[in-house]
Amino acid sequence: MLELTVNGQAHTLDPPPLRTLAEVLRGDLGLTGTKIACAEGHCGACTVQLDGVPVLACITLAWTVDGREVTTIEGLRDHPLVDAFVRADALQCGFCTPGQIVSAAALVAEEPDPSPGRIREAMAGNLCRCGAYPRIEEAIASWRG
Ligand code: FES
Ligand code: FES
Repeated sequence: MLELTVNGQAHTLDPPPLRTLAEVLRGDLGLTGTKIACAEGHCGACTVQLDGVPVLACITLAWTVDGREVTTIEGLRDHPLVDAFVRADALQCGFCTPGQIVSAAALVAEEPDPSPGRIREAMAGNLCRCGAYPRIEEAIASWRG
């Protein structure tokens, strides 16, 4: 059986061999905050943290993360970054936003005051088709309010 801790809660599952982590989170656990857009590892919409490190859940097979700790956007609902994104108006359609916040949360956990260059580097895997990049950067730079 596959043992996963998701947002602090233990789960035991038995997914088919090729089921992705994104499919398990959304389909089996009902955590639909994790989005699937390209489903090919290009856009970052499906980003979750695996033991604190951002990974692309759409190209991560669920069985490869047995015993690991997953954090999704639902587990970050009280993170100050959520308010920072709202304050900075850092979204338009919002589809990329969960992945953006998951990546940003991993960054500020490691570097609470990242430089603009570091923000761009850390967020390079998260695409925003609405082009909200300047405001996303502003939100991350001002995440502590
Ligand atoms: S949906 Fe996973 S990278 Fe695009
Ligand atoms: S806010 Fe629409 S894709 Fe980023």
